[in-house]
Amino acid sequence: MSSIKVIGGGRLKGEIKIQGSKNAALPIIAATVLNRGITVLRNCPRILDVFHMINVLKETGCKADWEGNNLIVDTTDITSTKISEGSVQKMRSSILFLGALLGRSHEVSIAYPGGCSIGKRPIDYHLDSLKRMNVTQEFLGEDKSIIHCYTNKILGTDIFLKFPSVGATQNVILTAVLGEGVTRIFNAAREPEVYELCSFLIEAGARICGKGTAFIEIEGVKELHDVEFTLSPDRIVAGTYMAAVAAAGGDVILRDTPNRHVESVIRVMEKVGCRIKADDRHMRISCNKRPLPYKMLITQPYPGFPTDMQSQLMTVLSIADGKSTIIEEIFESRFQNVNELKKMGAKITIEENKSKAVISGVKHLEGAIVKAHDLRAGAALVIAGLIAEGETIIREATSIERGYEDICRDVNSLGANARYCSENIL
Ligand code: EPZ
Repeated sequence: MSSIKVIGGGRLKGEIKIQGSKNAALPIIAATVLNRGITVLRNCPRILDVFHMINVLKETGCKADWEGNNLIVDTTDITSTKISEGSVQKMRSSILFLGALLGRSHEVSIAYPGGCSIGKRPIDYHLDSLKRMNVTQEFLGEDKSIIHCYTNKILGTDIFLKFPSVGATQNVILTAVLGEGVTRIFNAAREPEVYELCSFLIEAGARICGKGTAFIEIEGVKELHDVEFTLSPDRIVAGTYMAAVAAAGGDVILRDTPNRHVESVIRVMEKVGCRIKADDRHMRISCNKRPLPYKMLITQPYPGFPTDMQSQLMTVLSIADGKSTIIEEIFESRFQNVNELKKMGAKITIEENKSKAVISGVKHLEGAIVKAHDLRAGAALVIAGLIAEGETIIREATSIERGYEDICRDVNSLGANARYCSENIL
């Protein structure tokens, strides 16, 4: 387990190229098994979650190689449809192989993905939907923790999602693409990563309409074909560095930013005092004063303010000139960073069954030893270290590498002083 040491410093200046999208890469890597051939994914981020997903691919008998940031996947032969417990526990997005392997092989065995620090993260919407698509489900093992799904054929049908779940929407799409008939998803997730999965599948020969809307229709086809696809930049990584400028001040250029996908983040950062100029591919963000408070921020499904940006915004508001409120509507325990920020002098209280945080801004934070509970909370603590007085050590920082290629490289290119260090320095 590694740590990150950050020495608090001044304003940020310079430019960063935004890496490819983690949450687009993961479902698309699973989707490659739907084609019996070669897929090339360009601009693929070299992050732990992608490495885990590649390991799962290899468990099924597929091959994968890197050429720089291009991932070449060969899914000609599938020799196993069993996804090990270790793989799923390491990364819950392995659950996307549920739909992909059902679509390809009409059978899959996968361990129940556990919860994580941000919530229980059940998969009932996934399983209920697949049942309606003619998939039989058995729960095996002593503790019934292995889900064995199989079918003689996937039948298209109407799926009504109680909540616009990103993963459930993606699993239904992956199951339906090679099925028989038409599958219509009502209340589908509208996240850009769902849009991008549909774009990838359409380029590979799938018949999908309504991508990016709450109503998606998939007409099953016989097979897909090889495709080369370029992943969009990561909207949450872009938002993270926008929050760093809002907190530390400065004047930064973000290259290759998915500006259309961060409109809700742009609006909030402007409200807390940033000046933002964005064209279709780049962004210039500057801030030269203490952040302003934000009266009431509620995290919502896309296109609302993303839950994956909540921790980063909380760091910004922890030094704002006044009181702010954040309501976390998506995950039931995504305020783990509050205690870590309080170790640095932040004044935050949690109210109303833990979904509401009230932040009373302080003039500055103090460096401290803190812990990264999840990758976004960890990134938010790096931002806190940038603005704190003195030295901050972020323990269990490996979780940050799940989603950020090299956060120290990125913030140091803006003049910060951050470096990885081994856990045993403490
Ligand atoms: C995706 O997770 C993202 N992960 C998450 O990003 C993101 O926070 C989340 O969507 C919300 O935007 C990837 O794309 C790999 P959901 P997912 O299904 O699909 C409940 C990051 O930091 N729910 O939309 O798992 C669930 O508990 C990660 O990059 C059920 O109750 O999210 C949650 O409260 C963190 N039953 C809510 O819905 C289900 O069957 C949203 O979950 C499924 C979900």
